[in-house]
Amino acid sequence: MERVRIENLGDHVGKEIEVAGWLYNSRSSGKITFLLVRDGSGVVQCVVFKPDVGEELFELAKSFTQETSLLVQGTVREDKRAPGGYELNVTNLIKVGDSVDYPISPKEHGTTFLMDHRHLWLRSSRQHAILRIRHEIIHAIRDHFNNQGFINLDAPIFTPNAVEGTTTLFETDYFDTKAYLTQSGQLYMEAGAMAFGKVYCFGPTFRAEKSKTRRHLTEFWMLEPEVAYMTLEGDMNLAEGLITYIVERVLEKRQEELKTLERDQSLLERIISPFPRVHYKECCDILDEYAKAHPDEEEAQFTCGDDFGARHESIIVEKFDKPVMVHHFPAAIKAFYMKRDPQELDAVLGFDMLAPEGYGEIIGGSEREDDLETLRTRIKEHDLPEENFQWYLDLRRYGSVPHAGFGLGLERTVTWICGIHHLREAIPLPRMMHRISP
Ligand code: 4AD
Ligand code: MG
Repeated sequence: MERVRIENLGDHVGKEIEVAGWLYNSRSSGKITFLLVRDGSGVVQCVVFKPDVGEELFELAKSFTQETSLLVQGTVREDKRAPGGYELNVTNLIKVGDSVDYPISPKEHGTTFLMDHRHLWLRSSRQHAILRIRHEIIHAIRDHFNNQGFINLDAPIFTPNAVEGTTTLFETDYFDTKAYLTQSGQLYMEAGAMAFGKVYCFGPTFRAEKSKTRRHLTEFWMLEPEVAYMTLEGDMNLAEGLITYIVERVLEKRQEELKTLERDQSLLERIISPFPRVHYKECCDILDEYAKAHPDEEEAQFTCGDDFGARHESIIVEKFDKPVMVHHFPAAIKAFYMKRDPQELDAVLGFDMLAPEGYGEIIGGSEREDDLETLRTRIKEHDLPEENFQWYLDLRRYGSVPHAGFGLGLERTVTWICGIHHLREAIPLPRMMHRISP
């Protein structure tokens, strides 16, 4: 008998097929038992009718507990009211594995409990919806860049130096020396851009963030494109094009998942070009005005020149109903590699993209300092060991060109698009300050 994935049942109406899966839920009344069976691709209601299957099989069906693994054989029937639109009229059932006292019942559980059982929680419909959307976004990102002639270069995870500040480095032994887990593949992508013109890396990055916010993971996935001969404006265009493509694609392909999550899709439908581009100093004015109107709101108070906190980002974004690109941050609060604006020497040719609805920064990018001596000065100013950056300085010695790129945090993007509260559900197995298990 042909084994069919639940998502493909529609191609087999009227035929007898087999589904291999797990019991999600069941209910019985009199001569009929409904088994809700999932196989990873969907859920199907299987109707076990006692006069059809006989006493023994009927009792077997009634004995199945939540998450029992089983093979269901039956005839596919179209039923508009059924979840997924199809039902199985069961002809045979085979138990594969028992499931005794499955810890996650349909009742409410606390987040800590669910996170401790993350390996099982992944089976639930909400987690399915989020992680399928994550999958779609990964796929969309790769398609978007591949279709524009970018080359995917993978950056190493063991690195000899910091990229994004020394305070969030994870250090590890590396034979008789030390290595750090990568904070960003950017410096390597700069080498790649000089070799291939347009490149990207997409992989795990690590930050020893001692913050317990809903926006911080210690291990997260970052997409990092880098392009030779690109300026800040081109970089912002690239980021805007990517985000509109991702949103469009999720709206087109993941309707069912967005519905499961009860996502307000009208908010996503607004994500179309152009996105507002706002100078850092203009943000200072927005924040200043807000703080004056809300003197008692402590978190809203702001000193121009500082980095934004989560509340400040929300206040800025609330002014617009789209992602906002804030550019020209003060050089003093940004990374060593960012190029300064010759017209405005204390500001960098960089930007952050802030997501709507208070989700905060999802992208950070910039033009890179391309002058050898200026870059050496920056490395010194940031107390970084120049010897580790000799290869990076080589990129400025041999045919240096203006270039730019950005980093997009995958989980923050998934969290925003799914409209969920916390980043920890946007990655299969989250790593946070107080969580490294399961
Ligand atoms: O702004 P960041 O630190 O930029 C860089 O690492 C650059 N080197 C990227 C580049 O230009 N190639 O990080 C980029 C993005 C942030 O906007 C955020 O979305 C995400 O990475 N991010 C985190 N996501 C989850 N948990 C954390 N601890 C994160 N830190 C940054
Ligand atoms: Mg940043």
